[in-house]
This record gives sequence, structure tokens and C-alpha cells, in this order.
Amino acid sequence: MYNEIDLDKIDVNAGPPTEEPDRQYYFMAKCREWVRTFERKNKRLPKSCVVNMGCQMNARDSEKLRGVLREIGYEETESEDADFVIYNTCTVRENANLKVYGRLGVLHGYKKKNPNMKIALCGCMMQEPSVVEKLQKSYRFVDLIFGTHNIYKFAELLWTVLSSDRMTIDIWNDTDRIVEELPIERKYPFKSGVNIMFGCNNFCSYCIVPYVRGRERSREAKDIIKEIKGLVKDGVSEIMLLGQNVNSYGKNLQEPMTFARLLQEVEKIEGLERIRFMTSHPKDLSEELIQVMAESKKICRHLHLPLQSGSSKVLNVMNRKYTKEQYVELAEKIRKAIPDIALTTDIIVGFPGETEEDFQETLDVVRRVRYDSAFTFIYSKRTGTPAASMKDQVPEDVVKDRFDRLLKEVQDISKEMAERFTGTKQLVLVEELNRQMKGYMTGRLGNNHIVHFPGDASMIGQILLVRLDECRGFYYMGSLTEI
Ligand code: SAH
Ligand code: SF4
Ligand code: F3S
Repeated sequence: MYNEIDLDKIDVNAGPPTEEPDRQYYFMAKCREWVRTFERKNKRLPKSCVVNMGCQMNARDSEKLRGVLREIGYEETESEDADFVIYNTCTVRENANLKVYGRLGVLHGYKKKNPNMKIALCGCMMQEPSVVEKLQKSYRFVDLIFGTHNIYKFAELLWTVLSSDRMTIDIWNDTDRIVEELPIERKYPFKSGVNIMFGCNNFCSYCIVPYVRGRERSREAKDIIKEIKGLVKDGVSEIMLLGQNVNSYGKNLQEPMTFARLLQEVEKIEGLERIRFMTSHPKDLSEELIQVMAESKKICRHLHLPLQSGSSKVLNVMNRKYTKEQYVELAEKIRKAIPDIALTTDIIVGFPGETEEDFQETLDVVRRVRYDSAFTFIYSKRTGTPAASMKDQVPEDVVKDRFDRLLKEVQDISKEMAERFTGTKQLVLVEELNRQMKGYMTGRLGNNHIVHFPGDASMIGQILLVRLDECRGFYYMGSLTEI
């Protein structure tokens, strides 16, 4: 396992190994020497700051970056006024993308005060050639740029940056590689994300993810199981299996395996209490999966099932490969098989060509499925995607009006849905001290709802029984109870 590798035993004067992950451990050892020299000179450790800007998959990647930095000997800080700062970027919507440029200006200010500071950018936004061009031209103070496919090479790239003063850029167009057994620094001791696949092959017409994350690749089930067993040994009781479309897991493995089968294997792991997963594409959600979920003791009663639009016409242009009727039928089937399940979704308003009638269809699905919660997005034009060049882009004021109406509907329904659990006793994973109310803890139900209840820090990481006394819209107030 990665934790057992002793960097001090690596001969940094020899040449780098060609095999992975050995090669990266070699560069970690080299960087560690650099850290020691820094420490002697400055009487302190260098500080690093990893900023995550994207989804759960990006968050997991950030944990890998932190793992390498910890191994090397950097002291982690939340302040961006540090010796090494890395932004792990997202580009799914334009506003995520624009924020980066603004923040880079602030980083430049820090760098002027601390000329040894190194600034790095990685993640999805870096896979866009226009972004890299702009950085090369107007943001010369950035030291390192790399993308999503070669993140496993972070230690090697960091070494290049520490040992030179030039801007280093390393972007790959795609990869079929998955490098296992690199260090990871988890944010929570008791829960963790676990990648089961990378990339996406769906090419929904609005979405940039397939272009920046490459083709779908599944990890071998044995590697996934080994990682989860290691996590459980390390105190993790809840895992979230991560992929852009977990329902197509295993299709490209040498020995193909379904996602439902993988879940059954994961369920067998002793000591693991809760299993979550993200995200499910409705077109690939199988009967087998519903069955496995219904029978499982560990899979949480929560399913995120992105709708995107309720209009079959729009869904077709979006290339989602299901109709309104098929979606609603699927949702009904799931609710019937697993009555206490919480269904959540993603919805886009203002997709090119969306009419008021199309939007009414979306509202209709929202009212019929009755989501426990929904993320609503204003359509954002992403250069290079088919939708970006479609005619009939919807005017901004119309989109805003639809967005407000959708949000209200979604929120009203969520509140009503949450009420159905008031008064019940639920198992809750205690996550953290409540930041607003002293003496209160915050925990998460299997169905992903949040509850605040009186308690103390010793409960963090435990799964306890809590009575949901009062529903306050998006969260509950509760109290510890017994069966
Ligand atoms: N793979 C996941 C989604 C990843 S992106 C899935 O298919 O469910 C997360 C969400 O961002 C999507 O579900 C979609 O609702 C939203 N999204 C993606 N591209 C977008 C765009 N161009 N404009 C607005 N929202 C977008
Ligand atoms: Fe984007 Fe569609 Fe792939 Fe999800 S399934 S990441 S929305 S292309
Ligand atoms: Fe964003 Fe990349 Fe995730 S574009 S949503 S961080 S896969």
C-alpha cells in the first residue's frame, strides 16, 4: 500500500525509474530533499494550499494532490498566501471558469511579496486549448499547468517546477492509463470518495466533460475493493463510488462487469457501513441495480438521477437518449421498489430552442417525481460542444424568469417531501461540530438529509440513532434516541 513506502530509502542520485508508480515516488523523494533544504534555510516548512473548484471527482483528485504534498513534507494551509498554491479547476459552466482569472490576480499579488512562491493550475479547465493560450500570453507568473489525464505525474511535474524558473505546461489529450497506489490525503477520516471510473462517453450536447475528461475507463474491481478495504481499516465507514455515469461501469473491462455486481462485491466488505454513488445516467439504470439497491443493507436510500429537461424534444437534442415518459416511469419504478428513497436531480433551464411549452414539461416532471432536492442550472454555452452553435439561444430575461419559477417549485416540493420523515428515528453519520449552534453536532442521514442535534465532538465519525423532531425545510433538528 502507498502508506508503507519509505521515501528515505529511495536513492535520489540514481536515475528515475520508468515504471509507475515507482517513478512518482522517486520524484517525491527528490522534492522532499528540496523541502529539507528549504526548512534549513528558512527555519520553517514550506506551506501548500490546494483549492478545489469542481465536482466530487475533482475533490477526490485534490485529495491526491494533497497526499503527494503531505508525503513530500509541505505544511498544509487554507490561506492562499502560501509557498505553493494549486487550483484544481472546473469548466462545466462558464462562471466556474471566469472565477479562476479573478483569483489569479490575487495570487499574483502574493507572489510579488514572496518571489519563491509557485503557482499551479490543473483540472478540467486546463484541457481547453484556448485557456492555456490565454494563460501563456497574459498570466506569465503561473509556474505549472497540467490537465486531468496526467494528474498521477504531479510529483514529477512539481519537481520540474522546483528545479527551474520556466513555466511548465504538460497537457495530454487523452489517456487509457490508470495509475494505482499513489498517496491520498482524505478530507474526512470517516468517509471517502472512491473513483470507479474516469471520463465520459455520452456527449450530451451541452456538456464539456467528455472533452476535458476523455473517454470512459473503468478501474478493475479488485483494485476498487482493495482500496475500500484499506479505507475501512483506516476508519472509513461510508464510501461514495464516483464516476460521471456509474451505470455504465465495467463495460470496457477485459472481463466486463455490471455496476450492480460491483455494488454486491462492495457490500460484502466487512466493517463498511454505508455505500453511496454518483452519478447515475437514467438511460443506463438497470432493473438489476434497482433490485440490488432494494435488497441492500448498506446502499444508502438516495439516488441522484439527473433529469436535465422534462421535454422529450429537448432531451433528444440534448442527446440524453431517454424520453420524458421513460424517465417518469423509471422514477416511479424506483419509488415503488424502494419507498423510502430520496430522489434528487439536476435540471438545466434555457437550453437552445427551449420553449415555454418545453419548460412546462420540465415543471410537470418535477411535480410528478417530487424530488427531495434538485440542483437547477442556467444553461451555459460551452465552446466546442454541439449546443454552443445551435440557433435559438434563449434570451437571458426569459431564462431568468423560468429559472426563478423552477426554483420555487423545486423548493416548495423539497420542503413537503422532507416533512414525511419528521418524527422518525434514523441512523445518522455524525460529520462535524455545528458551526452556528454551540453544543450541537451535524450529521447526515442515509437519504442525504442533514440533521442538527445536541452532542459533542467525541461523536464525530460514529453512526448514531437520532429522532428527527422538527423539519426546517432543508434540514432537521433532532435528538439522540434509542431503539
Ligand atoms: N455526469 C453527470 C453530470 C456532470 S456535470 C451526469 O450526467 O449526471 C453536473 C451537472 O451540470 C449536469 O448534470 C448538468 O445539469 C450541469 N451542466 C453540465 N453542462 C452544463 C452547461 N453547459 N450548462 C449548464 N449546466 C450544465
Ligand atoms: Fe456531461 Fe452527459 Fe457525460 Fe454527464 S453524462 S458528464 S452530462 S456528457
Ligand atoms: Fe467540473 Fe470537471 Fe467535474 S468540468 S463538474 S470538475 S468533471
